[in-house]
Amino acid sequence: MVTRAPLTLRIRPMTVADIPAVQEIERVSFPVPWPAYAFRQELETNRLARYLVVRAGPRIVAYGGIWMMVDEAHVTSFAVAPAWRRHGVGMRLMLALADLALELGASVLTLEVRLGNEAARALYGRFGFRPVGIRPRYYSDNGEDALIMTTDRLDDPAMAARIARIRVALAPGAPEGEAEADDEPDADGEVAG
Ligand SMILES: CC(C)(COP(=O)(O)OP(=O)(O)OC[C@H]1O[C@@H](n2cnc3c(N)ncnc32)[C@H](O)[C@@H]1OP(=O)(O)O)[C@@H](O)C(=O)NCCC(=O)NCCS
Repeated sequence: MVTRAPLTLRIRPMTVADIPAVQEIERVSFPVPWPAYAFRQELETNRLARYLVVRAGPRIVAYGGIWMMVDEAHVTSFAVAPAWRRHGVGMRLMLALADLALELGASVLTLEVRLGNEAARALYGRFGFRPVGIRPRYYSDNGEDALIMTTDRLDDPAMAARIARIRVALAPGAPEGEAEADDEPDADGEVAG
C-alpha cells in the first residue's frame, strides 16, 4: 500500500463551487437527494441558511447545514461520504454546526431523522439530541416516519459540558477520535496505515 502524507480535516463554509462534490455525497447518501439547484438556492438566497463542508486534503468528504429559526438551529442536511464514515467525521461536523449555531445565537439544535436511521440517531444521541415527537409518514419515498429530535438548551450546564467533552475527545492528539485522519480510507472505509 502506498503511504501518503497525513491529511488534516478542515471545516469551512460551503461555496457554490463545492456543490458538485456535495451533491455526489448527497446522491449516494439519500433516496431522494436534493438537486444541485436546491443547494445553490440555499447558498445564494436563503438568509436563514448556513452550510459547512469538511475537507480532507482537496476532497470534500462531508457537509451539513442549519437554518436559523429564531433561537433554534434546525439541521437541514448532514452527510459523510461512505468511504469516510465511522472515522469521527460526522462528530466533527456536528461540533462545528453546534459552534456555528451558538455563534449565531441559537439556544437549541433541532432536526428530523428517519426513524430507522440508526447510525444518524446514534450520532445525534451522543450530542444530546432527544426524541420529542414523530411526523408520521414524513418521507415521501417510503412513507417512513420522521423522528423529531432536539437538544437541551446549549447554555444548560450539562449540555455545555457534553459539548466540551466532545471537543476534548476530538482535539488533535486525543487518545480516541484524533482530529487528523492518517490517510484516506481504503475501499472498505478503513484508514490506511
Ligand atoms: C450518519 C452519518 C452522518 C454518520 O457519520 P460518521 O462520520 O460515520 O459518524 P462518526 O464516525 O462521527 O460516528 C459518531 C458516532 O455515531 C454513531 N454511529 C455512526 N455510524 C453508525 C452506524 N453505522 N451504526 C451505529 N452507530 C453509528 C456511533 O455512536 C459513532 O461513534 P463510534 O464510531 O465511536 O461508535 C453517516 O453514516 C451518513 O452520512 N449517513 C448517510 C446520511 C444520513 O443518514 N444523514 C443523516 C440524515 S438525518
